[in-house]
Order: sequence, then C-alpha cells, then structure tokens
Amino acid sequence: MSITLEHVSHVYGADTQLSVAALKDISLTIEDGEFVGLIGHTGSGKSTLVQHLNGLLKATEGTLYYNGENIYEKGYSLKTLRSKVGLVFQYPEYQLFEIDVFSDVCFGPKNLGLSTEEVERRARRALELVGIGEEYYSQSPFDLSGGQKRRVAIAGVLAMEPDVLILDEPTAGLDPKGRDEILGEIAALREKTGMTVVLVSHSMEDVANYVSRIIVMNHGSVMLDGAPREVFRHVKELEEVGLAAPQVTYIMHTLKEAGLVKSAEATTLPEAAEEICRSFGMTRRQAEEPGVREAETPGARETDAGAWEPETDAGARKPETEKEADRC
Ligand SMILES: Nc1ncnc2c1ncn2[C@@H]1O[C@H](COP(=O)(O)OP(=O)(O)OP(=O)(O)O)[C@@H](O)[C@H]1O
Ligand SMILES: [Mg+2]
Repeated sequence: MSITLEHVSHVYGADTQLSVAALKDISLTIEDGEFVGLIGHTGSGKSTLVQHLNGLLKATEGTLYYNGENIYEKGYSLKTLRSKVGLVFQYPEYQLFEIDVFSDVCFGPKNLGLSTEEVERRARRALELVGIGEEYYSQSPFDLSGGQKRRVAIAGVLAMEPDVLILDEPTAGLDPKGRDEILGEIAALREKTGMTVVLVSHSMEDVANYVSRIIVMNHGSVMLDGAPREVFRHVKELEEVGLAAPQVTYIMHTLKEAGLVKSAEATTLPEAAEEICRSFGMTRRQAEEPGVREAETPGARETDAGAWEPETDAGARKPETEKEADRC
C-alpha cells in the first residue's frame, strides 16, 4: 500500500471572491507501514491535506494515487478507499452521530457488510483498545467528556481495521496519561498489524516520540520532510513559522554549548539520556544503578581512589566548576 500525491493543490471556494489556496503543489509518497507525523502552524493545511488522503476532499489540481491507482479516475470506488484509509477527524463531534456508543462504533464495520457477530467483535476490540469500558456502551456519545468522545471516534475508525489510520490531532483534550495510553496503543497496534499511521499534531513531543518521519507544512506547502532528527535540526526555521523542536532538544543544545555533550540531536527523553550517559562515559544502566560499573563502561579507567572515571575528551567532559554544573 502507498499513497502518492502528485502536484496536489486545493482551493476552497474557487471562483469566488473568498477563495483560499489551502494546498499548493504538494508532491509526496507515504509508503506502506510508515508512521508519519504532520505538523504545521494553524491554518497551514494539515486537515485539508489529510482529507485528500481518503478522498473526502478532491484536489483542485493534481492527482492522488492509492496503491498506484488514480482515485479520481471514473469508476474508482471511494467507498472502498474510505474503508482502507480511516480518518479520525480533528473534532470528534463531526464523526459521532449514533444513539449510543456501541452502535456508533459498529456503524463503520456494519457498512462493510460484515456479519453482526464480526461487527460486534470488532467494536468491542476497538473500544477496549481505546480504553472505553462496557459501562459506556449504551450512553449517548454526546454525553461523554471531550476525551471520551475522542476515544470513541478513534474506536469507530479502528473497528474498520483500516490499512491506513489518519489521526487529526487525536490528543487534543486528553490528559497526559490518556495521551500516552492512546498513542501507545496505536503504536503497538501498528507494530502488530503493519498499519500505516499519519498523525497530525501540534505536540512536538508526541511527534518525536512516535513517528519515523515528519512532514512540516507551511502556508499550504511542504516545508520540511524527513526523520525527526533531520527535521528538528532546523530549529530556527521551525521557530520562524511558529513551531518549535521538542523541549528536550533545546536542553541538549544548551548542554552542547556548555561542552557537556557531544551531540544535541536527541529528540526524545530516552535518546537524551543515552547521549548524556555516553558523554559521561556511562551506560544508562550504570547511571540508574550505580553498582553496575566497569564491565559496561566504554573506555573507562580506574582512578587512584578506586572510582571509575570516563575517558573524557574536548567534546564531552565533566563540569569543572559549580557554576558550570548549575548550567546543566
Ligand atoms: N471549509 C473551508 N472553507 C474555506 N476555507 C477553509 C475551509 N477549511 C479550511 N479552510 C482554510 O484553509 C486553510 C487551511 O486550513 P486547515 O484546516 O487545513 O489548516 P490546519 O493546518 O489543519 O489548521 P489547524 O492546526 O488550526 O487545525 C486555512 O486558511 C483555512 O482558513
Ligand atoms: Mg486542522
């Protein structure tokens, strides 16, 4: 499975005085099994772009191919496309409409013509995955909290068992625990099924923690496209368009400027911890369990006092003064 956009542009209200060019000449391919993060300032075209991926919006110009087939070709089944490419809307209210939670989640698989037994099996599994218990099954989806609505909306799409899952800001309205649970479950599901995931997010931390590729949108165009480390190297450009790198990247830059670490490229906490330990000649295990010593110390040497010290070099050294240590 792959999705290819060739010179896709989208204008809202074309031929009117209020026309808005939301996408401008976008060409890119999303490969099978990729975990892609889509970031960009508000109004940069993220939601417009993802609505093209399942054919909900049609490009004003350009072509979109799903598995090499032109989805704008006469006779192409957009219904089949939408069962393969599941989109969870930015605002869950747009997606929920049934009388109760369980019927809502059953709606998609039911439309695929599956047996009642299979429809209900999928709905239960999807609701379990997003952490919605049976006590909510008969409640109106509109009586739920914002975070619960979002979970039900995600379950509705997961129940279709799509090949591509697109989540438009799925963590908005969730508390940190809920956010980690949902994204963790989706990452685990992706590992297990090989599903492709596109995650639209304003949270650089969420994006850095989960995705393997980031596409940065700016005023309807693709500004950067690459692995998180490559993209977050462009901190200044990102800031110029109202974005930022993950907070840990800024800390690593400060540590690098102070000469305390060699590389400032970490974009997640575990990566930063690895780099800091490496710069101090330790493994993570040694840092966490002080009893674990020499066997794991790359290039460590024993001091007169019997303590183990790293082999330091110019790029990675211990703080020499209290002031310097404070700056860490
Ligand atoms: N239905 C619409 N009619 C007219 N203009 C629209 C419509 N939807 C979006 N736009 C405009 O298209 C541009 C891109 O909007 P879009 O919703 O894709 O941005 P976004 O990156 O998803 O923003 P956000 O981060 O706020 O969700 C904006 O200028 C917006 O005002
Ligand atoms: Mg949006």
